[in-house]
Amino acid sequence: HRHLLGIEGLRAGEITQILDLADGYVEQNRRPVKKSNLLDGRTQVNLFFENSTRTRTSFELAGKRLGADVINMSTDSSSVKKGETLIDTAMTLNAMHLDALVVRHADSGAVKLLADKVNCSVINAGDGHHEHPTQALLDALAIRRRLGRLDGLIVAICGDILHSRVARSNIHLLNAMGARVRCVAPPTLLPSQIERLGVEVHHSMKTGLRDADVVMMLRLQTERMSGQYVPSTREYFYFYGLDYEKLEVAKPDAVIMHPGPMNRGVEIDSEVADDLKRSMILDQVELGVAVRMAVLDLLTRERRQSDLAGAAR
Ligand code: CP
Repeated sequence: HRHLLGIEGLRAGEITQILDLADGYVEQNRRPVKKSNLLDGRTQVNLFFENSTRTRTSFELAGKRLGADVINMSTDSSSVKKGETLIDTAMTLNAMHLDALVVRHADSGAVKLLADKVNCSVINAGDGHHEHPTQALLDALAIRRRLGRLDGLIVAICGDILHSRVARSNIHLLNAMGARVRCVAPPTLLPSQIERLGVEVHHSMKTGLRDADVVMMLRLQTERMSGQYVPSTREYFYFYGLDYEKLEVAKPDAVIMHPGPMNRGVEIDSEVADDLKRSMILDQVELGVAVRMAVLDLLTRERRQSDLAGAAR
Protein backbone atom coordinates (compact mmCIF):
# COMPACT_ATOMS: atom_id res chain seq x y z
CA HIS A 1 0.00 0.00 0.00
CA ARG A 2 1.18 3.55 -0.72
CA HIS A 3 -1.30 5.22 1.64
CA LEU A 4 -2.87 4.45 5.00
CA LEU A 5 -6.39 5.85 4.73
CA GLY A 6 -8.20 3.40 6.98
CA ILE A 7 -8.16 0.01 8.64
CA GLU A 8 -11.15 -1.25 6.64
CA GLY A 9 -9.86 -3.67 4.02
CA LEU A 10 -6.55 -4.42 5.76
CA ARG A 11 -5.92 -8.11 6.32
CA ALA A 12 -4.88 -9.62 9.67
CA GLY A 13 -1.40 -10.35 8.30
CA GLU A 14 -0.92 -6.72 7.24
CA ILE A 15 -2.04 -5.46 10.65
CA THR A 16 0.31 -7.92 12.37
CA GLN A 17 3.19 -6.73 10.18
CA ILE A 18 2.65 -3.12 11.31
CA LEU A 19 2.31 -4.14 14.98
CA ASP A 20 5.45 -6.31 14.86
CA LEU A 21 7.45 -3.50 13.30
CA ALA A 22 6.06 -1.01 15.87
CA ASP A 23 7.07 -3.39 18.67
CA GLY A 24 10.63 -3.08 17.44
CA TYR A 25 10.44 0.72 17.59
CA VAL A 26 9.25 0.89 21.20
CA GLU A 27 12.73 0.68 22.74
CA GLN A 28 14.23 3.01 20.14
CA ASN A 29 11.55 5.53 21.02
CA ARG A 30 12.23 5.17 24.76
CA ARG A 31 15.96 5.81 24.36
CA PRO A 32 16.37 7.90 21.24
CA VAL A 33 20.07 8.52 21.94
CA LYS A 34 21.07 8.04 18.34
CA LYS A 35 18.68 9.27 15.69
CA SER A 36 17.92 6.80 12.94
CA ASN A 37 18.84 7.91 9.43
CA LEU A 38 16.17 5.76 7.79
CA LEU A 39 14.29 8.80 6.48
CA ASP A 40 17.31 11.05 5.90
CA GLY A 41 16.51 13.58 3.19
CA ARG A 42 12.79 12.69 3.27
CA THR A 43 10.13 15.31 3.87
CA GLN A 44 7.01 14.79 5.94
CA VAL A 45 4.28 17.41 6.22
CA ASN A 46 1.66 17.22 8.96
CA LEU A 47 -1.40 19.03 7.64
CA PHE A 48 -3.98 19.45 10.39
CA PHE A 49 -7.35 21.09 9.67
CA GLU A 50 -8.57 20.08 13.16
CA ASN A 51 -6.98 20.39 16.59
CA SER A 52 -4.75 17.67 17.96
CA THR A 53 -2.37 17.12 20.84
CA ARG A 54 -1.40 13.45 20.67
CA THR A 55 -1.60 12.60 16.98
CA ARG A 56 0.24 15.64 15.65
CA THR A 57 3.00 15.58 18.26
CA SER A 58 3.58 11.86 17.92
CA PHE A 59 3.70 12.01 14.12
CA GLU A 60 6.24 14.84 14.42
CA LEU A 61 8.33 12.84 16.91
CA ALA A 62 8.04 9.69 14.83
CA GLY A 63 9.26 11.44 11.67
CA LYS A 64 12.10 13.18 13.50
CA ARG A 65 13.24 10.00 15.26
CA LEU A 66 13.57 8.38 11.85
CA GLY A 67 15.59 11.32 10.54
CA ALA A 68 12.96 12.98 8.29
CA ASP A 69 12.52 16.72 7.86
CA VAL A 70 9.13 17.38 9.41
CA ILE A 71 6.97 20.43 8.75
CA ASN A 72 3.78 21.15 10.68
CA MET A 73 0.96 23.06 9.02
CA SER A 74 -2.36 23.94 10.58
CA THR A 75 -5.39 25.62 9.10
CA ASP A 76 -4.76 28.76 11.11
CA SER A 77 -1.34 29.31 9.58
CA SER A 78 -2.01 28.09 6.03
CA SER A 79 -3.55 29.80 3.00
CA VAL A 80 -6.72 27.78 3.60
CA LYS A 81 -7.62 30.82 5.72
CA LYS A 82 -7.47 32.90 2.52
CA GLY A 83 -9.92 30.61 0.75
CA GLU A 84 -7.57 28.10 -0.89
CA THR A 85 -9.34 24.78 -1.45
CA LEU A 86 -8.25 21.41 -0.12
CA ILE A 87 -7.30 20.21 -3.61
CA ASP A 88 -5.29 23.35 -4.39
CA THR A 89 -3.53 23.00 -1.03
CA ALA A 90 -2.72 19.38 -1.89
CA MET A 91 -1.44 20.26 -5.37
CA THR A 92 0.71 23.04 -3.92
CA LEU A 93 2.28 20.70 -1.38
CA ASN A 94 2.69 18.02 -4.05
CA ALA A 95 4.77 20.41 -6.17
CA MET A 96 7.27 20.54 -3.28
CA HIS A 97 8.08 16.81 -3.65
CA LEU A 98 7.01 15.46 -0.29
CA ASP A 99 7.48 11.86 0.76
CA ALA A 100 4.70 11.68 3.36
CA LEU A 101 1.64 13.80 4.05
CA VAL A 102 -0.20 13.28 7.34
CA VAL A 103 -3.69 14.77 7.20
CA ARG A 104 -6.47 15.43 9.70
CA HIS A 105 -9.72 16.90 8.40
CA ALA A 106 -13.22 17.42 9.77
CA ASP A 107 -14.88 15.81 6.73
CA SER A 108 -15.11 12.04 6.21
CA GLY A 109 -13.49 11.20 2.88
CA ALA A 110 -11.42 14.40 2.63
CA VAL A 111 -8.14 12.53 3.15
CA LYS A 112 -8.95 10.07 0.35
CA LEU A 113 -9.79 12.96 -1.98
CA LEU A 114 -6.39 14.43 -1.25
CA ALA A 115 -4.57 11.10 -1.59
CA ASP A 116 -5.95 10.72 -5.12
CA LYS A 117 -4.22 13.98 -6.14
CA VAL A 118 -0.69 13.64 -4.76
CA ASN A 119 2.34 11.48 -5.53
CA CYS A 120 3.51 10.97 -1.94
CA SER A 121 2.20 8.62 0.75
CA VAL A 122 -0.83 9.96 2.59
CA ILE A 123 -1.64 8.94 6.15
CA ASN A 124 -5.08 9.57 7.59
CA ALA A 125 -4.72 11.21 11.01
CA GLY A 126 -8.51 11.31 11.42
CA ASP A 127 -11.20 12.29 8.89
CA GLY A 128 -14.58 13.34 10.26
CA HIS A 129 -16.24 10.38 11.88
CA HIS A 130 -14.84 7.98 9.29
CA GLU A 131 -11.45 6.52 10.38
CA HIS A 132 -8.39 7.17 12.54
CA PRO A 133 -6.25 4.18 11.56
CA THR A 134 -3.07 4.89 13.55
CA GLN A 135 -5.17 5.25 16.72
CA ALA A 136 -6.61 1.76 16.24
CA LEU A 137 -3.13 0.40 15.53
CA LEU A 138 -1.67 1.92 18.69
CA ASP A 139 -4.65 0.66 20.69
CA ALA A 140 -4.07 -2.83 19.30
CA LEU A 141 -0.36 -2.64 20.12
CA ALA A 142 -1.17 -1.58 23.69
CA ILE A 143 -3.62 -4.48 24.13
CA ARG A 144 -1.27 -7.00 22.55
CA ARG A 145 1.67 -5.95 24.71
CA ARG A 146 -0.42 -6.05 27.91
CA LEU A 147 -2.67 -9.08 27.31
CA GLY A 148 -0.48 -10.98 24.85
CA ARG A 149 -3.07 -11.30 22.08
CA LEU A 150 -6.10 -9.81 20.39
CA ASP A 151 -7.77 -12.99 19.21
CA GLY A 152 -10.72 -14.03 21.39
CA LEU A 153 -10.67 -10.99 23.68
CA ILE A 154 -13.91 -9.25 24.60
CA VAL A 155 -13.51 -5.54 23.92
CA ALA A 156 -16.26 -3.13 25.03
CA ILE A 157 -16.18 0.21 23.19
CA CYS A 158 -18.34 2.60 25.21
CA GLY A 159 -19.79 6.03 24.58
CA ASP A 160 -20.31 8.26 21.57
CA ILE A 161 -19.78 5.68 18.85
CA LEU A 162 -21.91 7.60 16.35
CA HIS A 163 -19.36 10.39 15.96
CA SER A 164 -16.22 8.36 16.62
CA ARG A 165 -13.65 7.62 13.93
CA VAL A 166 -11.65 5.87 16.66
CA ALA A 167 -14.52 3.43 17.23
CA ARG A 168 -14.87 2.70 13.51
CA SER A 169 -11.16 1.99 13.01
CA ASN A 170 -11.05 -0.12 16.16
CA ILE A 171 -14.09 -2.16 15.12
CA HIS A 172 -12.48 -2.98 11.74
CA LEU A 173 -9.14 -3.83 13.33
CA LEU A 174 -10.47 -5.90 16.23
CA ASN A 175 -12.82 -7.84 13.95
CA ALA A 176 -9.98 -8.57 11.53
CA MET A 177 -7.86 -9.84 14.43
CA GLY A 178 -10.56 -12.13 15.85
CA ALA A 179 -11.61 -10.13 18.94
CA ARG A 180 -15.25 -9.94 20.07
CA VAL A 181 -16.38 -6.33 19.88
CA ARG A 182 -19.23 -4.84 21.90
CA CYS A 183 -20.56 -1.34 21.34
CA VAL A 184 -22.06 0.10 24.53
CA ALA A 185 -24.01 3.34 24.10
CA PRO A 186 -27.43 4.96 24.29
CA PRO A 187 -29.40 4.42 21.05
CA THR A 188 -28.95 8.11 20.14
CA LEU A 189 -25.16 7.72 20.07
CA LEU A 190 -25.01 4.62 17.89
CA PRO A 191 -24.94 4.62 14.07
CA SER A 192 -27.95 2.89 12.54
CA GLN A 193 -27.26 -0.71 11.57
CA ILE A 194 -24.00 -0.81 13.51
CA GLU A 195 -24.58 -4.58 13.92
CA ARG A 196 -23.72 -4.91 10.24
CA LEU A 197 -20.11 -4.22 11.19
CA GLY A 198 -20.13 -7.46 13.18
CA VAL A 199 -20.45 -6.07 16.70
CA GLU A 200 -22.75 -6.80 19.64
CA VAL A 201 -24.84 -3.83 20.74
CA HIS A 202 -25.57 -3.03 24.39
CA HIS A 203 -27.41 -0.05 25.83
CA SER A 204 -26.36 -0.73 29.41
CA MET A 205 -22.86 -0.78 30.91
CA LYS A 206 -23.92 -3.68 33.13
CA THR A 207 -24.42 -6.09 30.23
CA GLY A 208 -21.90 -4.45 27.91
CA LEU A 209 -18.99 -4.72 30.34
CA ARG A 210 -19.75 -8.22 31.60
CA ASP A 211 -16.57 -10.36 31.37
CA ALA A 212 -14.86 -7.76 29.19
CA ASP A 213 -11.07 -7.97 28.88
CA VAL A 214 -10.78 -4.41 27.59
CA VAL A 215 -12.97 -1.40 28.31
CA MET A 216 -12.42 1.40 25.83
CA MET A 217 -14.05 4.71 26.71
CA LEU A 218 -14.89 7.50 24.23
CA ARG A 219 -15.69 11.13 24.89
CA LEU A 220 -18.91 12.85 23.83
CA GLN A 221 -17.92 14.60 20.59
CA THR A 222 -20.17 17.60 21.06
CA GLU A 223 -18.41 19.47 18.24
CA ARG A 224 -19.89 16.95 15.78
CA MET A 225 -23.40 16.95 17.27
CA SER A 226 -26.12 18.93 15.60
CA GLY A 227 -29.85 18.83 16.15
CA GLN A 228 -29.78 15.84 18.48
CA TYR A 229 -30.37 15.31 22.16
CA VAL A 230 -27.18 15.99 24.10
CA PRO A 231 -27.33 14.50 27.61
CA SER A 232 -26.28 16.55 30.60
CA THR A 233 -22.89 15.71 32.06
CA ARG A 234 -24.38 14.33 35.28
CA GLU A 235 -26.99 12.28 33.48
CA TYR A 236 -24.43 10.86 31.09
CA PHE A 237 -21.96 9.98 33.84
CA TYR A 238 -24.69 8.25 35.85
CA PHE A 239 -25.54 5.86 33.02
CA TYR A 240 -22.38 5.62 30.95
CA GLY A 241 -19.45 7.12 32.90
CA LEU A 242 -16.88 4.48 33.84
CA ASP A 243 -16.33 4.12 37.58
CA TYR A 244 -15.26 1.20 39.78
CA GLU A 245 -18.85 0.17 40.36
CA LYS A 246 -19.60 -0.28 36.66
CA LEU A 247 -16.22 -1.96 36.17
CA GLU A 248 -17.06 -4.69 38.69
CA VAL A 249 -18.77 -6.89 36.08
CA ALA A 250 -15.74 -6.87 33.77
CA LYS A 251 -12.90 -9.42 34.15
CA PRO A 252 -10.94 -8.76 37.38
CA ASP A 253 -7.86 -7.77 35.38
CA ALA A 254 -9.69 -5.90 32.62
CA VAL A 255 -7.73 -2.96 31.26
CA ILE A 256 -9.07 0.54 30.69
CA MET A 257 -8.37 2.54 27.58
CA HIS A 258 -9.20 5.98 26.25
CA PRO A 259 -7.85 7.55 23.04
CA GLY A 260 -7.95 11.01 24.60
CA PRO A 261 -8.69 13.79 25.01
CA MET A 262 -10.71 12.64 28.01
CA ASN A 263 -13.31 14.55 29.94
CA ARG A 264 -12.93 13.53 33.55
CA GLY A 265 -16.22 13.12 35.35
CA VAL A 266 -18.16 12.85 32.08
CA GLU A 267 -17.27 9.53 30.41
CA ILE A 268 -14.68 8.43 32.96
CA ASP A 269 -14.10 8.85 36.68
CA SER A 270 -10.73 10.38 37.59
CA GLU A 271 -9.78 7.58 39.95
CA VAL A 272 -10.30 4.94 37.26
CA ALA A 273 -8.45 7.00 34.64
CA ASP A 274 -5.45 7.36 36.96
CA ASP A 275 -5.43 3.74 38.16
CA LEU A 276 -1.85 2.81 37.27
CA LYS A 277 -2.57 -0.93 37.42
CA ARG A 278 -5.50 -0.96 35.02
CA SER A 279 -5.48 2.22 32.99
CA MET A 280 -3.45 2.06 29.77
CA ILE A 281 -4.18 5.65 28.75
CA LEU A 282 -0.56 6.83 28.97
CA ASP A 283 0.77 3.57 27.46
CA GLN A 284 -1.46 4.31 24.48
CA VAL A 285 0.15 7.73 24.09
CA GLU A 286 3.65 6.30 24.36
CA LEU A 287 3.00 3.53 21.85
CA GLY A 288 1.52 6.04 19.41
CA VAL A 289 5.02 7.21 18.50
CA ALA A 290 6.27 3.66 17.81
CA VAL A 291 3.22 2.85 15.68
CA ARG A 292 3.64 6.02 13.65
CA MET A 293 7.35 5.25 13.14
CA ALA A 294 6.36 1.83 11.79
CA VAL A 295 3.74 3.30 9.46
CA LEU A 296 6.14 5.93 8.10
CA ASP A 297 8.82 3.26 7.63
CA LEU A 298 6.50 0.85 5.79
CA LEU A 299 4.78 3.39 3.54
CA THR A 300 8.03 4.97 2.35
CA ARG A 301 9.86 1.64 1.95
CA GLU A 302 9.06 1.13 -1.74
CA ARG A 303 10.03 4.68 -2.61
CA ARG A 304 13.30 4.36 -0.69
CA GLN A 305 14.11 1.06 -2.36
CA SER A 306 13.39 2.39 -5.86
CA ASP A 307 15.52 5.50 -5.14
CA LEU A 308 18.40 3.24 -4.02
CA ALA A 309 18.04 1.11 -7.14
CA GLY A 310 18.02 4.26 -9.28
CA ALA A 311 21.19 5.53 -7.60
CA ALA A 312 22.95 2.20 -8.13
CA ARG A 313 22.23 2.22 -11.87
N1 CP B 1 -6.50 10.44 20.15
C1 CP B 1 -6.33 11.55 19.43
O1 CP B 1 -6.51 11.54 18.20
O2 CP B 1 -5.95 12.65 20.14
P1 CP B 1 -5.66 14.09 19.52
O3 CP B 1 -6.96 14.64 19.01
O4 CP B 1 -5.10 14.89 20.65
O5 CP B 1 -4.67 13.91 18.40
